Amino acid sequence: MSTAQRRLHLGVFFQGVNHWTIWNAPESGSQIDFSSFRRMITTAERGLFDAFFLGEGLRLRESGGAIHDLDVAGRPDAITQLAALAGVTSRIGLVATQNTTYNEPADLARRLSGLDLLSRGRAGWNVVTTDNAWTGENFRRGGYLDHGDRYVRAEQFLTIARQIWDAWAADATAPSTTAEHWADPKAVATVGARTGRFDVEITPLLPRSAQGHPVVFQAGDSAEGRDFAARNADVIFSAHGSDFADALAFATDIRARLRAAGRAEDALRILPGTEIILGDTEAEAQEKARWVRLHQVTPATALAIAGQVWGRDLSDRDADGPLPAEDPVVVEPTGEMGSRRWTDPREIVRRWRDTAEARGLTLRETVIALGPQRGHVGTPSGLADRFAHFVREGAVDGFNVSPYLTPDGLDDIVDKLVPALQDRGVYRERYEGTTLREHLGLPRPEAWIRRETQRTRGAGH
Ligand SMILES: Cc1cc2nc3c(=O)[nH]c(=O)nc-3n(C[C@H](O)[C@H](O)[C@H](O)COP(=O)(O)O)c2cc1C
Repeated sequence: MSTAQRRLHLGVFFQGVNHWTIWNAPESGSQIDFSSFRRMITTAERGLFDAFFLGEGLRLRESGGAIHDLDVAGRPDAITQLAALAGVTSRIGLVATQNTTYNEPADLARRLSGLDLLSRGRAGWNVVTTDNAWTGENFRRGGYLDHGDRYVRAEQFLTIARQIWDAWAADATAPSTTAEHWADPKAVATVGARTGRFDVEITPLLPRSAQGHPVVFQAGDSAEGRDFAARNADVIFSAHGSDFADALAFATDIRARLRAAGRAEDALRILPGTEIILGDTEAEAQEKARWVRLHQVTPATALAIAGQVWGRDLSDRDADGPLPAEDPVVVEPTGEMGSRRWTDPREIVRRWRDTAEARGLTLRETVIALGPQRGHVGTPSGLADRFAHFVREGAVDGFNVSPYLTPDGLDDIVDKLVPALQDRGVYRERYEGTTLREHLGLPRPEAWIRRETQRTRGAGH
């Protein structure tokens, strides 16, 4: 595809457990009620988004034995919620984050097939391995698998899930009420898998959906995670979308991994998560960004984040005062804790102190200044120019927008940014297809085509 033809894809992303959603401003609605999600998804569909996307948090964050009670808790189970939302929408994709560490292929593949059938081919699965040992404790498996093993299990899991989805030929169900069988027994294959992690014999229960089977997303940023995505995923959800050079480096890395895996460079869509803060003028946007950050990082949240770095309870300190004078408590990570990106807290504290001193910042301001890059701040036309540049240069295929307010957080994006993107020719004017696979411009699954060809040939003999 020439650079001028490249189009931006947008999704809306709800994080599982997080402090980035502002729940305590007068503008905030319910984080749990169905009406909030209905309002959000119908706005996204009005804005011709590809997908509505739910993260998964199976356990609240904790520190020092207490839950981090400033977080927005995990929302109602993703597949349940998306099935309800399928009934009030007709085009937008419905993506559920579900982990491969604590689920089983036969059950999860069946539930995702159910969502795909009910929504007429709009389901997606964001495959994650989940990095928290304490999530495992919910399943009596604290520190169940180490990092590398989780990806071994994930790959075998996904292979079996795909076999389950591909088990029914396209025309396996009765075409009319006068047919002899509801399901043609010869058209349903059994899935037998004896791999290092699984020993299963499955007769899949459900026929194919309109898009063949759910679209596979992946989120996980290590070398193992990226290779897993390059071998297996249709879409990769990353955190590399705020800075152009970083986004391009990530996309270049993924393309090299795709080539190494024997796949085409455009076989995978890259959709980083991002926050978008809009203002009618640049100054207004910056002022709004300040309001957003101060609501996301409240004094109590700043003290909780600093407490995790220092390994101490700092809840009685003044967030608007200086950084704690004492040294952090250093606890070496165990292999089971998951993330390999452990950094020595003494190094982090040194960086915090250097920044606070150089810029004259309070503790809370330091937490904000050194927090993760969250996305883009600007006017609709400024950001439309920026996003057109990102997509035309191949740094991203689109963005998964994380709204900081529920349920109205997409309104100005749909009303102001989407038309500016359309004016620049980088965003669709209408939905052209009906399935999530079609919205993303992805081909039909190969195994589906192979299966159809075999049956057509078989029927001819
Ligand atoms: C952008 C992004 C979003 C993620 N969302 C979730 C999520 O919703 N639920 C979850 O359990 N893990 C989520 N993860 C974590 C992954 O499951 C994975 O366990 C973690 O990133 C560690 O793997 P890695 O070292 O390959 O990054 C996410 C990771 C990334 C990079």
